[in-house]
Amino acid sequence: MHAIVQYQEFFVNYLKAQSIDKEPKNLYEPIQYIVGLGGKRMRPVLTLMAAEVFNASYQEALPAAMAVEVFHNFSLVHDDIMDDAPLRRGNQTVHEKWDINTGILSGDAMLILAYQYFEQYEPIVFRDLAKLFSKTALEVCEGQQWDVDFETRNDVTIPEYLKMIEYKTAVLVAAAMKMGAIIAQTTPENGNLIYEFGLNLGLAFQLQDDYLDAFGNPETFGKQVGGDIIENKKTYLYLKAMELASASDKIALAELFASQLKDNTEKIEQVKAIFIRTSADVLTQETIEAYTLKAFATLDKMGIAPAKKEVLKAFGENLMKRKA
Ligand code: IPE
Ligand code: IPE
Ligand code: MG
Ligand code: MG
Ligand code: MG
Repeated sequence: MHAIVQYQEFFVNYLKAQSIDKEPKNLYEPIQYIVGLGGKRMRPVLTLMAAEVFNASYQEALPAAMAVEVFHNFSLVHDDIMDDAPLRRGNQTVHEKWDINTGILSGDAMLILAYQYFEQYEPIVFRDLAKLFSKTALEVCEGQQWDVDFETRNDVTIPEYLKMIEYKTAVLVAAAMKMGAIIAQTTPENGNLIYEFGLNLGLAFQLQDDYLDAFGNPETFGKQVGGDIIENKKTYLYLKAMELASASDKIALAELFASQLKDNTEKIEQVKAIFIRTSADVLTQETIEAYTLKAFATLDKMGIAPAKKEVLKAFGENLMKRKA
């Protein structure tokens, strides 16, 4: 096993050796732009780590790691159109820098490019990777649709929210890890356990993303702070606040989330004040920790060396401390 920073470096070096600098420029430049903006590279690192956890070399997992990261970037380009987001990784989003049509087509091309990276694997491994990937990609679309549907609903429940974030976010984190297991051709049991680990980590990750969207530091977050509030997203923060608010705060929050017309700065401030008054912020942090611990519990069932478990745990702990 290597250190997390080393996996990041292995991946970035591989990424840099890829040539996506092709014609037509308006198709490929946005791809280079968004992929080159970086980000945490969490999913590809998890693929490389999982491969080594189950005794393959990280080198064998590089194309799958690339597929996962390119798919993730595709989903971000389309997500930013859907969420009307101006900022990504501290820079303009693709549809702001170019336009919406460019974002749609470059995104489509990224989805295909992602699939192409699996062609480098032998038939048995290819089949398993492609199967998992197709299932996951479809689930991400389902999660994204729920996310959008919930914007205009005022009866969303916490179980519905959890299902939505499982699909839009957690399944990709889980699949990124299971791909490492597939490449290492470990037992199906190990594959399922690492998937479960990734799934719970992914749930914690999206809860944290929602938390940072409201309470993150604009200097370090890299995205528009308050974007979820502007878009009336039914996050855990919102749902917990609705559950626990006083009668008057409940009415206020419902009204704030019923319109797009209000001054956004004012709306964000008022909503955040309600999140704090109801302790929804603290409860969200507690839930993040609970899902992280649930992820760690699946490690106990896995037949791998304790040192490897420690590396995976360290990854989960770092995620909880993140600011972006
Ligand atoms: C953003 O993912 C989308 C979510 C699922 C919350 P990341 O926070 O991993 O984005 P980057 O790749 O690090 O920019
Ligand atoms: C993202 O959810 C999920 C996918 C991109 C599939 P968000 O909409 O919360 O992600 P960010 O906050 O824009 O990165
Ligand atoms: Mg978004
Ligand atoms: Mg979104
Ligand atoms: Mg978000």
